[in-house]
Amino acid sequence: MVQAPADPRFADGKLFDLENGLVARRIFSDPEIYDEEMQRVFHQCWLFLGHDSMLARPGDFLTTYMGDDPVIVWRDPHGKVHAFLNNCTHRGNRLCLHDRGRATSFSCSYHGWTFNSEGRLVGVPFMEEAYMGQLDVECLGLVEVPKVVSRGGLLWGCWDAGAPSVDEYLGDFWWYYDTLFGDDGLEALRGCHRYSMVGNWKLFCDNFSGDGLHVPISHRSAFAVDATRRNYLDRTSDRFMVQFMPAHGVGALTLGDSGLQADLNRAEELGPEAVEWVHERHRRIQERQKAAETRIAGWVWGQCFPNLNLQAFDSALRGHAFIVCHPKGPDAMEIWQYCLIEKDAPQVVKSFVARTATRGQSGTGLIGIDDGENFERITENMRTVANRDVNSNYAMTLELEGHWPGQEQWPVAGLPGFFGPSMWETSQRRFYRYWASLMGVQA
Ligand code: FES
Ligand code: FE
Repeated sequence: MVQAPADPRFADGKLFDLENGLVARRIFSDPEIYDEEMQRVFHQCWLFLGHDSMLARPGDFLTTYMGDDPVIVWRDPHGKVHAFLNNCTHRGNRLCLHDRGRATSFSCSYHGWTFNSEGRLVGVPFMEEAYMGQLDVECLGLVEVPKVVSRGGLLWGCWDAGAPSVDEYLGDFWWYYDTLFGDDGLEALRGCHRYSMVGNWKLFCDNFSGDGLHVPISHRSAFAVDATRRNYLDRTSDRFMVQFMPAHGVGALTLGDSGLQADLNRAEELGPEAVEWVHERHRRIQERQKAAETRIAGWVWGQCFPNLNLQAFDSALRGHAFIVCHPKGPDAMEIWQYCLIEKDAPQVVKSFVARTATRGQSGTGLIGIDDGENFERITENMRTVANRDVNSNYAMTLELEGHWPGQEQWPVAGLPGFFGPSMWETSQRRFYRYWASLMGVQA
């Protein structure tokens, strides 16, 4: 029988050789690895749950996933936000069947147990007749995620009660986030754009962690038809990758007044109110950095490990996409995409953003479908015998890491994070190094 040649470097079942930038493709398809990472990665890391504005009033709730666990995120009558496993504690039926809304309680569709927004079991049908009063309702509340916090208006949850704070976990990311948004705050536009993709969640997330190389190649057709994106290709030399330990970062960081004129040109089409707001937003961002040696303008994409991906923070008029990649098995994912915008933006800007937000990185947009096709083809290939034992290559500029030619001239003095040129694979290597450490695997 003809055997596909296994890569000798991975012959002993190793998953990584990151010293040489190599990753065994098995991590994108193996069901056992998938089960393990649901526990070790998604139960240890802070995960994005939503935004405060989605749960503005007591009783407001939304449903989402933490890894593959379904959860209800619910604001109780005292204003506290909880996250509960969306499983009835009787026999495990899905409790809340809605995406979002407002409720004081939910009743399970199977036997009618009812739970309130503090997670307590408050109703049991036939308590006297069937249970004869012998049910310890106090112990049968919903399973609660031990850590839920709001930071900068963003809601985060973590299953690990001993985890460091979300401030510590995301580290320097917050400097960039706070510089752009301060206390002004964001609000979520209505709805959530959802779409399925073939492929392991890590394919999507390692791409968002810093794959600058694919942009001018995979998304060439988008640049060809969309003039507003074209200047991206002309300006790779003044865009930088920034990585925050252990595995977060922003990509295509722009500096100074970059992007302002392009925003103003578009705002003019929307009217004087939009122009004025773009100026005012810019002024505020500058003001927050008045003491800084280097001023930032924004960034095109970013990532908070493991699965929150960010897009279009480089423009006042594109909305800010918070893109959660929910794993759905070893070779499937669901993308849930929320669009946030500054609360004080005029209605004409909010309406424009709502109309245009799904034209780029989305299931129907010019950008998202390019990525989806690549991930699908990769995944089909991984199923074949010949491909199974091959590795993926993340070896770009391994020898030059931290010593890139010309970096002394980069105008980034004083900015936090580890900087690199607009194309690198450093953040992907760090993504997998951190993933490996959580999984207890040698990298
Ligand atoms: Fe929910 Fe029985 S499974 S009440
Ligand atoms: Fe892409």
